[in-house]
Amino acid sequence: MNIIITGGAGFIGSHVVRLFVNKYPEYHIINVDKLTYAGNLANLKDIEDKPNYTFVKADICDFDKMRELMAQYAVNGIIHLAAESHVDRSIKDPFTFARTNVLGTLSLLQAAKTYWENLPEGYEGKRFYHISTDEVYGALQFDGTLFTEQTKYDPHSPYSASKASSDHFVRAFHDTYGMPTIVTNCSNNYGPYQFPEKLIPLFINNIRHRKPLPVYGKGENVRDWLYVEDHARAIDLIFHKGKVADTYNIGGFNEWKNIDLIKVIIKTVDRLLGHPEGYSLDLITYVTDRQGHDLRYAIDSTKLKRELGWEPSLQFEEGIEKTVKWYLENEAWLENVTSGEYQRYYEGMYKDR
Ligand code: NAD
Ligand code: TYD
Repeated sequence: MNIIITGGAGFIGSHVVRLFVNKYPEYHIINVDKLTYAGNLANLKDIEDKPNYTFVKADICDFDKMRELMAQYAVNGIIHLAAESHVDRSIKDPFTFARTNVLGTLSLLQAAKTYWENLPEGYEGKRFYHISTDEVYGALQFDGTLFTEQTKYDPHSPYSASKASSDHFVRAFHDTYGMPTIVTNCSNNYGPYQFPEKLIPLFINNIRHRKPLPVYGKGENVRDWLYVEDHARAIDLIFHKGKVADTYNIGGFNEWKNIDLIKVIIKTVDRLLGHPEGYSLDLITYVTDRQGHDLRYAIDSTKLKRELGWEPSLQFEEGIEKTVKWYLENEAWLENVTSGEYQRYYEGMYKDR
């Protein structure tokens, strides 16, 4: 297969690219990424010279370029991860989210449609796989309920509204034109190479530098955390074995209240840095809550287990240990991505709070 993976220089995308390039030497993997602040080719240093891997710097909103790439590489599979992905940024700048997440997805769909429909075999043997989030389902209360594939969409943030819109476009391309699409909605990911604006890498980095840990509101919001390599394994399985036009939820059955998770991170970083237990607890700083902050996300991934046999492979304790170690050992990566523009953005964000 010749597969375009969009957003392959980002956090989850880089794990998916690495998995596919190493596991399928017979495939050609074309990583299409605009390299925004969140994209970093250093994430893929270990595979960049592999003969079955090509990187193309391009914007998914550029329809002509997407159409050209599909023909140039005779693309028959697309795994679409490119997106603006941070809720706080979407609150400040919703237009960028609508552009990339909605119009970019539409541009990619239309490019695939016009390319595939004009081939003699049409959609035969093709696949457009769209990676989405559980945030499209809205927010749960503290009542033990879970998001299933039947849960109605109810997005609240500009980020989740843009992802919901893109999911609808993908399904519309199946229903209208017969394009073989699949959508998956996953819970919060964590692991190596995540940009340190998201909770876990941000807090590891701040603890290391003895900087305040900004806990939004009372720290009572709940998220369901999945190790990123488990997500990448699910994507591999679903890309190959998932049912066309279907939807699968992917999650860790691993809910954590933010403040409890933060204490686990503090304990792990302190231990690995040789500090006494409780040393960095004083960095916890309660700040004004995120606007429209969703209370709780939790995914029911029973369908994926029942139909395709997928389960998370890593216990959370093990995943957090690996993750903290990785960030502590990869200081140069962190310094590189947190210098310059990002540092100015981050400081500006807290001035407004
Ligand atoms: P990320 O922000 O780390 O990476 C996004 C990548 O997309 C970057 O490499 C960036 O350069 C690229 N990109 C952005 N705009 C682009 C454009 N216009 N054209 C081409 N490339 C562009 O994001 P992530 O956390 O890896 O998330 C990847 C996907 O998974 C997203 O679609 C996101 O909605 C979804 N998702 C993320 C999570 C999570 O916890 N991170 C959970 C569920 C679903
Ligand atoms: P985040 O990593 O931004 O993911 P998402 O908002 O997509 O779930 O945030 C995870 C949780 O942590 C969320 O409830 C917001 C909270 N949070 C903080 O309390 N402080 C922070 O500095 C950040 C980035 C997030």
